[in-house]
Amino acid sequence: MLEKIKSLLREIEDLKATNAEELEALRIKYLSKKGEISTLMNDFRNVASEQKREVGKLLNELKTNTQDKINELKDRFENTQTFDENVDLTRTAYPIDLGTRHPISIVKKEICDIFARLGFSIAEGPEIEDDWHVFSSLNFAADHPARDMQDTFFIQHHPDILLRTHTSSVQTRVMEQQQPPIRIICPGRVYRNEAISYRAHCFFHQVEALYIDKNVSFTDLKQALLFFAKELFGANTNIRLRPSYFPFTEPSAEMDISCNLCGGKGCPFCKYTGWVEILGCGMVDPNVLDNCGIDSNVYSGYALGMGIERITNLKYQVKDLRMFSENDIRFLRQFESAN
Ligand code: DAH
Repeated sequence: MLEKIKSLLREIEDLKATNAEELEALRIKYLSKKGEISTLMNDFRNVASEQKREVGKLLNELKTNTQDKINELKDRFENTQTFDENVDLTRTAYPIDLGTRHPISIVKKEICDIFARLGFSIAEGPEIEDDWHVFSSLNFAADHPARDMQDTFFIQHHPDILLRTHTSSVQTRVMEQQQPPIRIICPGRVYRNEAISYRAHCFFHQVEALYIDKNVSFTDLKQALLFFAKELFGANTNIRLRPSYFPFTEPSAEMDISCNLCGGKGCPFCKYTGWVEILGCGMVDPNVLDNCGIDSNVYSGYALGMGIERITNLKYQVKDLRMFSENDIRFLRQFESAN
């Protein structure tokens, strides 16, 4: 009997099963009532008493080992996927359906790339801001309408915390951290409390540029603007500057480009003026420099800001602003070739 147990112990070490039926057959063979081990258990009665200790120990070992082995086999094939032999695992995978860049991202990159060629580097800031960075540091009067709930989203119960209404806040963040020369371009999302329609949305995107150094003049601004307009809209593009007002620049201007749809002749898009407005700009107000810890007696600079949606509309004639945020694949797919 001892020999029989020992040979079974060896035998079960090599047991194999690849599916549930084979495994069940093994269980029946060894562990069922009439199985080999149960039979041995029954015969145990007849073992001479001086051998009982040794045989009993081995018999128990056989039973546990068999049970363990069967469990192990079960785990193994339950965790192994079976492969269809007709599947060719070496062939290349199905082509992954590539998405397309969003038109706003395409134009944002184009704008940033143009300024990068002029030595500007990208700076970013938070979308949830405080009054100081969005308004106070930028010379907004205490009663400026932008500070009104009608125009700006405030965080409930926190009158000082708001969603930034323009990317000019990034100017302050950078100037507070860094002394001139500063040459940054700041793309980002901004929020305004507007009713959503085809021509207004409660969030949109802007790009802000800031250049601060010794002896920066309005001429430098004009040169940068002309270069930018020609790079973005083509070499035949003309620009014109109209005096304007922003709290953070003095003097301030708005820039028009010659209408790129009619080439300046006049069409419904430019309301027959031949010009379309694309950005605001000016020389950084000395108060703003001083607010941010930069000596306005030593340094001067220019700033400009534009809406990316507006530029995108000009380039691609998207008539309804809402298209930009609705993720309609039929709309987005049209920009495939612009990637
Ligand atoms: N922050 C302005 C806006 O949201 C845009 C702007 C105008 C930015 C003039 C500037 C600037 O830096 O100089 O309408």
